[in-house]
Amino acid sequence: MIKRRSFLGYFSIGWLTACFPVVLAACAPKQATTEATSSTPDSASDDKTTSKPAAKKTADGFTVVGTVAQLEQAGYIQTKQVAVTKDPANPKQLLAVNPKCTHQGCDVKWMAGAKKYDCPCHSAEYAADGKVLKGPATKSLAKYPAKIVGTQVLVKV
Ligand code: FES
Repeated sequence: MIKRRSFLGYFSIGWLTACFPVVLAACAPKQATTEATSSTPDSASDDKTTSKPAAKKTADGFTVVGTVAQLEQAGYIQTKQVAVTKDPANPKQLLAVNPKCTHQGCDVKWMAGAKKYDCPCHSAEYAADGKVLKGPATKSLAKYPAKIVGTQVLVKV
């Protein structure tokens, strides 16, 4: 016959073993879950603003990230490596930043109405030029040179 103390010991070990994977999953970074959603713009069906980075680099080191038509239509272009918007203070100027949040690396999302980037993980906010508007992030998004050549938007990453 199992004594009460032994039973409680076995029960505790079994309970901890069963809960351990759940605790690990809960403590994992949110990046895995946000990555799938953060690559899509506000509405899941509107995929016009995202584009895959072109493999081709120009002689001066710039890479095509999208078209002027995409930028005009959506107000921004975002890939895994770069996000491009027009400068809210000077719409003829482009601003390109690394869309990885400097807090823990989630993909930030351009909020066209508010003209700022929001991080879905812990609510950090960045200006179009990558400067921190609200924590917990303390470091600005990395900036890249950007330009328009013909009908294409190019960024030097
Ligand atoms: Fe962006 Fe934490 S990862 S605020």
